[in-house]
Amino acid sequence: MSTLIINIKELLQVRDIKVTKVSGEAMKTLPSIKNAFVLIIDDTIVDFGKMEDSIGIKADKVIDAKNKIVLPTWCDSHSHIVYAGNREQEFVDRINGLSYEDIAKRGGGILNSAETLKNTTEDELYNQSIDRVNKIMKLGTGALEIKSGYGLSTEAEIKMLRVIKRIKQNAPIKIKATFLGAHAVPKIYKENKQDYINLIINDMLPKIAKQNLADYVDVFCEKGYFSLDDTTQILNAAKQYHLRAKIHVNQFNAFGGVALAVKHNALSVDHLEELNNEDIKALKNSETMPVALPSCSYFLSIPYTPGRKIIDAGLPLALATDYNPGSTPSGNMNFVVSTACIKMKLTPEEAINAATINGAYAMGIANNYGSITKGKKANLIITKPVPSYNYLPYSFGENNIDQVIINGSLI
Ligand code: NIG
Ligand code: FE
Repeated sequence: MSTLIINIKELLQVRDIKVTKVSGEAMKTLPSIKNAFVLIIDDTIVDFGKMEDSIGIKADKVIDAKNKIVLPTWCDSHSHIVYAGNREQEFVDRINGLSYEDIAKRGGGILNSAETLKNTTEDELYNQSIDRVNKIMKLGTGALEIKSGYGLSTEAEIKMLRVIKRIKQNAPIKIKATFLGAHAVPKIYKENKQDYINLIINDMLPKIAKQNLADYVDVFCEKGYFSLDDTTQILNAAKQYHLRAKIHVNQFNAFGGVALAVKHNALSVDHLEELNNEDIKALKNSETMPVALPSCSYFLSIPYTPGRKIIDAGLPLALATDYNPGSTPSGNMNFVVSTACIKMKLTPEEAINAATINGAYAMGIANNYGSITKGKKANLIITKPVPSYNYLPYSFGENNIDQVIINGSLI
């Protein structure tokens, strides 16, 4: 099956295969071709270029993209999309004055979601989660990382990871699974956190690795959750199973988690709402991608990650949703891109780079996703007629997507 997209007003994010991330100054450039075509065979981009070079190309199906922009689908490298129920009540409690931390301290927050998940069957958890995946696909997400972390017992963490595996098998988009047993300390371990860490290391990790249920490991490295020492223990144990780290750091406090993650050659450090010069220094010359989650800042009314400072220091930056029931009940990457421009002062070029190629890097899939490149998967967004790509972040809240192509097929 071949598909030819013609008359594309502008084809964005055209890259050589060697580019796996863009950093600093280079993020200001979004390579593109005006009046372009793309040829897809089966699930792969096989050719693209200027319209005048498409003469003679035949295909089973032709899509006319006159006045429309085509770009790679979003790569959302940080989500907790597998969860049960919701936390609407905590949302109202926060409006009435409680903080995210206050709610966690009284046993709500992550522990609240863990309780709901425990009482939800695996099939029901799958149904609720795949429904969300189907919705975000239509919003242009073509690759998604999903974390466990609402199980907090061996059985329930494995239940979550099995659901992620089922999504991997059934959803057409690319999925990566991350084990986040260290998301919160369960109530029964409140007085002896080390016992819970031992459970993660000696019971959860070996079982999860044996069943091949995780691609990466995560820890919520934060005051009141897991310390630098706790994080070190878990990352060291995960190394035996070749699980690279993608960790939650600096959401509320900066205390050395970034340097620790870099020391362990983490693939990404995510959140970074609180970021100091030491953290920036640690990230320089590293292979670790900083990831900002602006819709979490929006929803919790906490500071935005200083994306400007990160990029101006010559570093790369990725953008992701953090889709979860507590801090970000939204998986809309279009809103993330807009918010990064509006609140973090990223240019549209920087934000689109951050949400495509750098997102792909942050989930270890840049060889196949994140840009318009011959040989990469044909995962594309075709916009509605728009004046320019600046219009995409500018018209926040508007759905500018006309069609989404995943693995060469319209969804
Ligand atoms: O990334 N901060 C830790 N984890 C999630 C929130 C989880 C929750 O509140 O359920 C986050 O924001
Ligand atoms: Fe998160």
